[in-house]
Amino acid sequence: MMKKVLITGAKGQVGVELMLEAAARGYDAVGYDSSDLDITDAKQVFKALETLQPQVVINAAAYTAVDKAEQERDIAFAVNADGVSYLADACKRFDVPLLHISTDYVFDGKKSTPYLESDEPNAIGVYGASKLAGEQVLKNKWHKHIILRVSWVFGAHGHNFVKTMLRLAESRDALSVVNDQYGAPTAAKSIASCLLSLVECEGFGEADYPWGLYHYQSEPGVTWYDFANEIFLQANALGKLSKQMSVAPITSEQFPTPVARPENSKLDGEQLKQVFGIQAGDWKRQLSEMLKAI
Ligand SMILES: NC(=O)c1ccc[n+]([C@@H]2O[C@H](COP(=O)([O-])OP(=O)(O)OC[C@H]3O[C@@H](n4cnc5c(N)ncnc54)[C@H](OP(=O)(O)O)[C@@H]3O)[C@@H](O)[C@H]2O)c1
Repeated sequence: MMKKVLITGAKGQVGVELMLEAAARGYDAVGYDSSDLDITDAKQVFKALETLQPQVVINAAAYTAVDKAEQERDIAFAVNADGVSYLADACKRFDVPLLHISTDYVFDGKKSTPYLESDEPNAIGVYGASKLAGEQVLKNKWHKHIILRVSWVFGAHGHNFVKTMLRLAESRDALSVVNDQYGAPTAAKSIASCLLSLVECEGFGEADYPWGLYHYQSEPGVTWYDFANEIFLQANALGKLSKQMSVAPITSEQFPTPVARPENSKLDGEQLKQVFGIQAGDWKRQLSEMLKAI
């Protein structure tokens, strides 16, 4: 039987890809954006589950404005922690698994090797703290959950680093990009595919399914500077950019942001591979697919 899936934040970067991937895989997918379903409203959340009776909920809704969150702490926590709490309550009430997306920003980035699921989080800013609070509330409230921590998300829909680089290239010939933050880009499309593959793994919905926290990140690890160079290299090769961009490496100190970013955003995806056989793969290939699509 066709599985009914409720996707929140359906017009976000990952939400759009989830809707496309779910349709391609034959799900009965219902996508709600913030105007259809505000996850900070407990009654609306309960009503949506009661009415729709989905077999799985995927929460792609989030407050994602990292710097602005410092001034909008209440909103960030309302969406990223309280919203998740209401979803967890409703999912538990109707016995529906909840798949949720989290972030590398739960870590301070001081570790020198890739972060494991067992590493102690220590968020630097409000956004990271609000996402961590969301993880904790879900973990405490509802057993049938997956928390997928991802990083440096890019895709054809919505705002991201790739789009910013291409936009800046329209008016400039040279850019300076931070070269002391290490992580790895991950395509929204690949995250969507991973989440739906988890739904299709044996035992999904059962109490003894390996629920819990997993890291998901593409390879290889790079800096933002490396990422920018690859974007321009591929955009040139694909004819999406008709000039050579000059990219200069700079330090985080030379590019201050209202809230610091983790130096190390590398996530170890081995657990997900061991348990489910799912790997994020090569982001350079994912980038090429994205550039061809836009
Ligand atoms: N982007 C990244 O680089 C990155 C990195 C690591 C982890 N993540 C995580 O990945 C997930 C998806 O991120 P994304 O990049 O797809 O974010 P996004 O493009 O900002 O999309 C988030 C969506 O959530 C919706 N939303 C906000 N408040 C809501 C509310 N109260 N009720 C319902 N919907 C609400 C937004 O709708 P409106 O526009 O109408 O407000 C938006 O469509 C998030 O959990 C994020 O924390 C992202």
